[in-house]
Amino acid sequence: MKKILIIILGLLVVAGFYPKVAGAQNPTDPCISCHDTVTPGIVKQWQESKHSKVGVKCYVCHRAKDDDPAGFNHNGYRVTALVTPKYCQSCHAKEVEEFKNSLHAVAGFFPLSAYGVRSGEKVTKDNITIGMNYNYKTNFSREGAEQGCLHCHGTVIKVGKDGKLINWPNNGIGRLNPDGSTGSCTACHTRHRFSIAEARKPEACGQCHLGPDHPQIEIYTESKHGAIYAADGENWNWDVPPGQWGPKDIGAPTCATCHMSGFGGALQPTHNVSARLKWELEPVFSWPTEKKYLEGKAKFSIDPDIARRYEKLYGLPKGSLSKVGTGKPNPFAIAKKFAPEVYKAYVGPGKWFEKGDTRYDALRGAARRSPEAKRADMEKVCTQCHSTTWVKGEFAKAEKVIDAYNAVALAIKKKFYDPIKKEKLDVDIKFNGKSRPDSLWHEVWHHQGRRWRMGAFMQGPDYEHWHGAYEVSTAGAELANWLDDLRTRKAVKQKLNLK
Ligand code: HEC
Ligand code: HEC
Ligand code: HEC
Ligand code: HEC
Ligand code: HEC
Ligand code: HEC
Ligand code: HEC
Ligand code: HEC
Repeated sequence: MKKILIIILGLLVVAGFYPKVAGAQNPTDPCISCHDTVTPGIVKQWQESKHSKVGVKCYVCHRAKDDDPAGFNHNGYRVTALVTPKYCQSCHAKEVEEFKNSLHAVAGFFPLSAYGVRSGEKVTKDNITIGMNYNYKTNFSREGAEQGCLHCHGTVIKVGKDGKLINWPNNGIGRLNPDGSTGSCTACHTRHRFSIAEARKPEACGQCHLGPDHPQIEIYTESKHGAIYAADGENWNWDVPPGQWGPKDIGAPTCATCHMSGFGGALQPTHNVSARLKWELEPVFSWPTEKKYLEGKAKFSIDPDIARRYEKLYGLPKGSLSKVGTGKPNPFAIAKKFAPEVYKAYVGPGKWFEKGDTRYDALRGAARRSPEAKRADMEKVCTQCHSTTWVKGEFAKAEKVIDAYNAVALAIKKKFYDPIKKEKLDVDIKFNGKSRPDSLWHEVWHHQGRRWRMGAFMQGPDYEHWHGAYEVSTAGAELANWLDDLRTRKAVKQKLNLK
């Protein structure tokens, strides 16, 4: 495949399609001779890359496409500073397509709901940057969002009237680019080395996959796999081409090994990080990554024995913990509601996303296979180093955790949180648009509950238990206190005839 690419590239150069590049042989590349002194760091990083060896020079990537609004005239050349996935596509079509088929590519839609526009500001086509949720009164700011949420998820980049880029620099994973594409390949392969070795190391993912709500790097560091990586990783072979990279090169898996690599030749490498996931572990409740659930068309059943156990524990009627809701969060619905202009620019016939109604529409290609087929791929990675019994046993345990989490979270919601809302008991004191009970419920699923579930699947026992299950319980207990307290307050007020 690579050989074919190089041959095609060579032919293009010979045919004059890249006249300003003229292959690696041309020492007087118009960009390098000047950028050697203007940005020597960039030139050095590029020189160390595979691209420099095969003649992919500056202008090959930075030559602006005719219809790219980000293009500008620069010393006699029309260049762009935004080398989006559309630019890599001509040579790396497979990787771009797979990336586009993953949840990574829609990550920019999710935060569109989180930040209000500045007060008094009118939303127009040109200034809409983050969203237009007028109702959510928050002390988070748009300014902060750019260095927070959007640093990981990606901004909406616009080209201003003066040609300057708005909301750039940014390399968020699902960045919304002005050429109609989404994503940023440099989120994992930093420019201008564009190295696979770097992207295979857990630190590349840990930039974003950390913290209270998705502590994958912390879980990994705690796991035996992470400990082996820390002890010995510097001696491993990181540069072996995809497809050939396997257990002879490394002693324990990294994030990329399990989620992306064609490890040991046992399965296809993929840029679709959703392609090996049987479960949704991040939403309020967990359910399999299957069409009917992704579209929210069916509820997902909890193991009846586990459900019954918690019904008894929480004193809930039989059947009340049998099923959980599915289908959310839906990136397209969020974009449509809070930033319709953004939605229209990226979704629809001929757009980057042809169709975008449900969460299912965001998971394409290999991510559309049955949950079992996706799990089978993940197991093909494990069984390069472990026996089948070991691996199946490990997953069977983790899957029971899902039932326990679903049952406990639903019990806490039904028993302690919903009544606060239904009986209109909630406190007026709100911070960041939320009362303390609201925040507690949010943390149960979004923080502690994710840690519980993720810790179980990636061998992080402390995250499964002390940062997970245990803290779900303490948050649940606090919510129970709130309900009791708020009911008492209401009764006292009624007795004293206070409003
Ligand atoms: C005559 C010198 C010169 C040449 C030739 C040149 N550049 Fe530049 N380039 C610069 C300078 C100076 C800057 C501004 C650097 C700064 O802001 O610190 C720059 C900035 C850039 C930027 C960043 C723009 C931004 O908005 O941040 C890109 C991308 C770029 N050049 C690409 C290229 C490419 C591709 C070529 C070859 C087609 C090229 N340059 C040729 C001097 C040059
Ligand atoms: C394989 C494609 C590729 C090649 C080759 C390439 N670039 Fe880039 N360049 C990128 C990408 C990707 C970005 C990130 C821009 C973005 O999308 O935010 C970038 C960003 C830049 C920037 C602006 C961001 C910054 O860090 O200042 C400059 C300047 C730049 N490149 C110059 C160069 C020069 C000079 C060369 C040749 C030595 C070169 N590039 C070769 C892909 C490439
Ligand atoms: C003009 C064609 C061309 C373009 C455009 C291009 N590449 Fe490449 N790239 C290649 C070729 C050819 C290789 C193969 C080098 C090899 O394996 O020997 C390569 C290799 C790579 C590698 C593997 C490096 C390694 O360590 O083995 C990565 C990662 C990569 N490119 C990323 C990108 C990204 C990201 C972009 C867009 C920002 C991009 N490329 C744009 C031609 C291109
Ligand atoms: C440190 C990087 C980072 C920051 C900051 C961040 N996120 Fe995330 N976000 C992630 C990662 C990584 C995931 C994937 C979590 C997982 O699968 O476990 C995620 C997941 C999500 C999801 C769920 C997506 C899904 O498919 O269900 C939403 C919604 C979301 N983030 C919104 C936000 C908002 C809004 C903010 C700011 C208030 C924010 N994020 C801040 C990295 C970040
Ligand atoms: C620049 C930030 C960033 C980097 C770097 C990053 N991710 Fe993510 N990742 C995210 C965000 C944000 C999400 C949530 C996306 C969504 O739900 O749309 C996510 C989601 C995921 C998911 C869940 C997909 C699903 O279908 O639920 C997996 C798995 C994942 N990333 C793996 C990785 C791996 C492996 C790496 C490193 C090789 C990595 N990520 C690097 C930000 C990042
Ligand atoms: C989530 C992190 C991540 C992102 C984002 C990412 N890559 Fe990669 N990329 C990797 C990893 C990890 C590998 C090595 C895979 C393996 O071990 O089999 C890789 C390998 C590659 C290769 C080498 C393939 C080969 O067969 O030699 C190319 C080319 C490439 N990526 C291009 C891209 C392009 C283009 C984009 C943007 C659409 C992109 N990557 C975005 C993590 C990422
Ligand atoms: C030993 C293999 C392995 C390693 C190493 C590993 N993971 Fe995972 N990961 C899994 C498995 C298995 C699951 C659960 C899969 C499922 O849904 O069936 C998972 C789940 C996830 C999810 C949750 C997706 C969702 O449903 O929201 C994310 C995000 C993720 N991993 C990212 C990472 C990151 C980032 C790293 C490195 C810091 C990492 N993983 C290391 C195997 C691994
Ligand atoms: C590259 C080889 C490799 C791959 C791939 C791999 N592992 Fe491991 N794993 C190891 C090694 C080595 C150990 C440490 C064994 C020991 O303790 O002696 C280990 C340990 C474990 C442990 C024990 C954890 C503990 O704390 O004792 C579990 C469970 C596990 N792996 C599950 C998995 C699963 C599930 C997968 C696939 C998703 C997987 N492994 C993929 C090499 C691998």
